[in-house]
Amino acid sequence: MKLCQTVAELAAALAEVDQAGKTVGFIPTMGALHDGHLSLLRRAQQDGHFTVVSVFVNPLQFGEQDDFDNYPRTIGVDARLLTDAGADVLFAPSAAEIYPAGKQLREPSPGDLGEKFEGTYRPGHFAGMLKVVSRLFDLVNPDAAYFGDKDAQQAALVQQMVRQQIAAGEREPLKIVVCPTLREPSGLALSSRNRRLSEQELAVARQIYPALQAGAALAPDVAAVVSAARAAMPSEARLDYLELVDPLSFEKLDHIPEHGARLIVAAWVGKVRLIDNLLIGG
Ligand code: PAJ
Repeated sequence: MKLCQTVAELAAALAEVDQAGKTVGFIPTMGALHDGHLSLLRRAQQDGHFTVVSVFVNPLQFGEQDDFDNYPRTIGVDARLLTDAGADVLFAPSAAEIYPAGKQLREPSPGDLGEKFEGTYRPGHFAGMLKVVSRLFDLVNPDAAYFGDKDAQQAALVQQMVRQQIAAGEREPLKIVVCPTLREPSGLALSSRNRRLSEQELAVARQIYPALQAGAALAPDVAAVVSAARAAMPSEARLDYLELVDPLSFEKLDHIPEHGARLIVAAWVGKVRLIDNLLIGG
């Protein structure tokens, strides 16, 4: 695996790939890698791509300084995991490489979709996320990029941005592949933030997914789904939202459409904010 820390090093590595006529599969991450991240890499490898994984903790998508400062940074371990997993390039740039002083970067708009749920509770988060993803796409110019279904609203926003940029002739066609959420046996979705949970908090966090499943069991009765899931949530978790929404538009639903519905949750366990979701039907 090649480690690239600058835009110039990345461009040199990609020029070789281009000459060899290979396609590029890209997995953007913020590091503190776990098997969920590695599952995206494995999917890109199965699809036959030369694989580029980025690790960059993007300051623009953090509202609270606390969350940014305390976000786990484990680049040494990450590099070893990626080497063992057979990634071709690790792009681990500094903030100055991603956001060079004086360089005007595109600022894709999250639009209406970005106002809902995560957008309401984390103002500016999606604008910052889209800005870095767009910048990374410009630098890596991938044929396909891999995202996790755990961050379903993020994946929907990236798909919307890419559609708009391609339609405006601002970007070469690029496939967004959304991959299933990896979970520990308890059902808890793997997340870099889980490592900030104490043993007691972990026990609380492990009750979140079973609560979604308890709700989903009552489909198609939408009111029953939502109220049962809320009732099953651990009382120690502080809920930001738990709703049943359209999987594409994230509009709240009063029935389950043919293409399914997504039960989405965001909850605080101690000082850690966790999100998860479960697709029903579809
Ligand atoms: P990060 O939280 O590091 O996640 C990187 C990718 O891994 C995202 O696409 C996320 O959905 C996926 N992922 C996380 N947990 C997963 C799990 N348990 N199973 C499957 N996939 C999982 O999401 C970000 O970083 C950032 O917002 C980023 C897109 C890199 C932009 O900064």
